[in-house]
Amino acid sequence: MRILVIGGDGYCGWATALHLSACGHDVTILDNLVRRKWDRDLGVSSLTPIRGIGERLRSWEATTGKKIGFIKADATNYAALVEAFQTVEPEAIVNFGQQRSAPFSMIDRDHAALTMVNNTLCNLNVLWAMREHAPAAHLVKLGTMGEYGTPNIEIEEGFITIEHKGRRDTLPFPKQPGSFYHLTKVSDSDQLFFTCRIWGLRATDLNQGVVYGLDTEETTLAPALVNRFDYDGVYGTALNRFCVEAALGHPLTVYGRGGQTRGFINIVDTVRCVRLAVETPAEAGEFRVFNQFTQTFSVLSLAHSVVRVGAAMGLSVELQHVENPRVEKELHYYSSVNNHLLALGLEPTLLDDPTIEGMIRTAARYEKRVDTGQIPATVQWAAGSPPGRPAVPAKVVRRS
Ligand SMILES: NC(=O)c1ccc[n+]([C@@H]2O[C@H](COP(=O)([O-])OP(=O)(O)OC[C@H]3O[C@@H](n4cnc5c(N)ncnc54)[C@H](O)[C@@H]3O)[C@@H](O)[C@H]2O)c1
Repeated sequence: MRILVIGGDGYCGWATALHLSACGHDVTILDNLVRRKWDRDLGVSSLTPIRGIGERLRSWEATTGKKIGFIKADATNYAALVEAFQTVEPEAIVNFGQQRSAPFSMIDRDHAALTMVNNTLCNLNVLWAMREHAPAAHLVKLGTMGEYGTPNIEIEEGFITIEHKGRRDTLPFPKQPGSFYHLTKVSDSDQLFFTCRIWGLRATDLNQGVVYGLDTEETTLAPALVNRFDYDGVYGTALNRFCVEAALGHPLTVYGRGGQTRGFINIVDTVRCVRLAVETPAEAGEFRVFNQFTQTFSVLSLAHSVVRVGAAMGLSVELQHVENPRVEKELHYYSSVNNHLLALGLEPTLLDDPTIEGMIRTAARYEKRVDTGQIPATVQWAAGSPPGRPAVPAKVVRRS
């Protein structure tokens, strides 16, 4: 298939573009490289030395003989996006191209506005470009499990059948997003559902859990194919950050009580899930929602696993509860369905000790590149905390 991968220079997008290309698809990446700029603006950088997009693509071609196209364009620029559609004539569009950090979206008004405009317009433009230039194409859109929040009932895959006052209907599952970033994802889902109903587009919304891990089969084929790995307080996600902390002898920073429970997925499975969704497209007018995670963990249980594996490696790893910068439940019920991707053939890669050990070893390999000043969470959710400035430096509160 001819596939346009929007946001293909990012963490999930790069690994997925390589995987789709390795599987024989004709892949073109569209990215404005803005994530690299945001890193510079924030003064953070990937743990791993990611190469420029040109070097990445040359290395892929030299290693595999396969070519991936690249279009440098901002998806919020409709004319540029349309030109890309006319050039590529995509049969499938995979959209990763958004601002993806919840803390980034909570820094201040400007970052909230940037996230809202960038994400919402990018999604809207893709839908209009499909309507006008590729109405038969299938959109695979990255959403997040964070759209649902943490309800006290089991989370279904997008829809729930409810009875109300003696009548029954299947309706979108209620959403309770936890940041301006998550709010944009809820709006995206509404736009997708709307345009499938009204225009007959076909779309799959992948509500993805927190992604962990660095390597995939393809990114390890050559050094220049290495993926990004974020560990900082704005972009670093729980397990990735814990593994870097363990490698450095930095205490594992558990926000609050650590009972926050979420769906998680290995990057190896992210790329497989996207391929499965692309290769079995939705019908015309169909809006599918897949919950894309393989396991659920509380933050505290992940930290305990890293402490245990670190100790077995001879590292002295300590766990510290720090003040939670977010406004969220720290102890709650959490259960979610994830049947659709399993039904399509996904064989989950489960988190085990060797995987954690591998991530700690990777972090140790790049130890010299770590700036520990970037680890503390610096963005506060609560009203009243000063906007635009680092939050109270993560105050260490030891709990047993
Ligand atoms: N990483 C995770 O744990 C995770 C979890 C759930 C969902 N997701 C979703 O997956 C997608 C990819 O996440 P990621 O971790 O790879 O993020 P990332 O920041 O590494 O990559 C996003 C890419 O999109 C590009 N981009 C952003 N705005 C753009 C625009 N207007 N035009 C063109 N390109 C643009 C960036 O330059 C970057 O290369 C996001 O939509 C994110 O919300 C990620």
